[in-house]
Amino acid sequence: MKEILKKLNQKRDLAIVGGGKKRQESQHKKGKLTARERIEILLDEGTFEEWDMFVEHRCSEFDMDKQKIPGDGVVTGYGTINGRLTFVFSQDFTVFGGSLSESHAEKICKIMDKALQVGAPVIGLNDSGGARIQEGVASLAGYAEVFQRNVLSSGVIPQISVIMGPCAGGAVYSPAMTDFIFMVRDTSYMFVTGPDVLKTVTHEEVSHEELGGASTHTKKSGVSDLAFENDVEALFQLRRFMGFLPSSNKELPPLRKSEDPADRIEFSLDTLIPDNPNKPYDMKELITKVVDDRDFFETQPDYAANIITGFARMTGSPIGIVANQPMVLAGCLDNNSARKAARFVRFCDCFNIPIITFVDVPGFLPGTSQEYNGIIKHGAKLLFAFAEATVPKITVITRKAYGGAYDVMSSKHLRGDVNYAWPQAEIAVMGPKGAVEIIFRGEIGNKDKIEQKTNEYREKLANPFVAGSRGFIDDVIMPNTTRKRICRSLEMLKNKKLTNPWKKHDNIPL
Ligand code: HXC
Repeated sequence: MKEILKKLNQKRDLAIVGGGKKRQESQHKKGKLTARERIEILLDEGTFEEWDMFVEHRCSEFDMDKQKIPGDGVVTGYGTINGRLTFVFSQDFTVFGGSLSESHAEKICKIMDKALQVGAPVIGLNDSGGARIQEGVASLAGYAEVFQRNVLSSGVIPQISVIMGPCAGGAVYSPAMTDFIFMVRDTSYMFVTGPDVLKTVTHEEVSHEELGGASTHTKKSGVSDLAFENDVEALFQLRRFMGFLPSSNKELPPLRKSEDPADRIEFSLDTLIPDNPNKPYDMKELITKVVDDRDFFETQPDYAANIITGFARMTGSPIGIVANQPMVLAGCLDNNSARKAARFVRFCDCFNIPIITFVDVPGFLPGTSQEYNGIIKHGAKLLFAFAEATVPKITVITRKAYGGAYDVMSSKHLRGDVNYAWPQAEIAVMGPKGAVEIIFRGEIGNKDKIEQKTNEYREKLANPFVAGSRGFIDDVIMPNTTRKRICRSLEMLKNKKLTNPWKKHDNIPL
């Protein structure tokens, strides 16, 4: 017995030290934490239950049988975040560069399978040189096993990836299939083909950071949802983020008590909309003034900023927010914003998170670039996402709701449960000026007449009452009562049941 205990302790020590003190120091010098340090920060203190600490690779090529480190480059198990069960894997760059062997993949798959069975999220902390080169196809098979589980878990349990080091080649496709990707600035990167291959094949010269760093993926590609300064900030923010998500699609998102009164009146909202309809205002001001305790967790803030997405709470219950941002491209819908919001809406719908939509949209962004890049299909994604969503949907039109974009933005016709408009709302086929210039095309030179007709159009059609008279909006509300009205609607909708016709799956215009 004593011998076994000694051996156990030796093995544990070996696993804990991973690739050794020197490699751990090198990890720290790069500004990165080790795999275990990351788990310690992410999970509630003392809750981590580690699995498979003694797993080793089975490769004997290239003298690999002489280099075995218990754990094989990934720390896996479960623990809690603010008391809620969460599964986690954390790749250990100090062991063969965190590269993925067959055994390493099996460890990840084991926790993914259990998380799916018990209905709890999986968080992956990625820091890996990719496929374990010495293992060849066995490693590729391991990746595919992970990919398959990512797909089966999608929409059943939340899956979050944090990129905390390299993530290259086909390895990027596991994070890509998870629900959210966080990155760490300067120490993480993601690309399918690295700078060296690029240089050989296309003669392009680009750094790791430029090609696939956090800035690239949060601003240009939209692959990553958020970027953080360092490991600690990323992990703390992830703990906060997890508080908005249910553990699985069978649960409601977690309640967190708030002292913020449901009937709080916010008079400053009455003057938020400028008198001039072409002047922008900050939609984020409205969001923060309406939600509990001004606490808004924005996703993709630096990508397609003409639409805002993120999580907040109303009377303690998590909600998802989608809102046009008049400060960027006048709040128009375009390819990127439609894709960004569509994915967000679908996430909320998978996980029983009610959607609040704030609308101020002059239409779709015109132009060849938009058309050539497929605005027809991308715009349809957002339309499809809102239309198929069965969670409670509350819409507030603050100002413009023009044309097809009116329909798309969670309108009554797409089963919006409660649709409000502020008094300044203009709901019409297009803006008054554009409309009059088409209807009275022959008289464009007659300035007075055009102005008179524009005012007439605005009075007759570009207001909330035409939509109101048809029941397309349920009420015209004072801006200062917005929080109160949304809270009441959410309370009314809390037992909402709506199901779509049976199908294998839908065929969203991808
Ligand atoms: C085995 C690896 C490894 C790998 C790194 N190491 N990547 N071992 N397989 N894929 C080992 C190194 O030999 C080294 O071991 C240690 O990890 C640290 O690596 P360094 O190169 O010293 O670190 P650094 O300078 O920080 O560079 C990191 C790196 C580089 C950029 C990731 O290691 C690298 O380019 N690795 C190869 C990446 C790659 O081509 N992977 C395959 C991609 S294709 P020692 O013992 O010296 O500490 C792929 C396909 C997936 O992944 C397909 C899925 C479908």
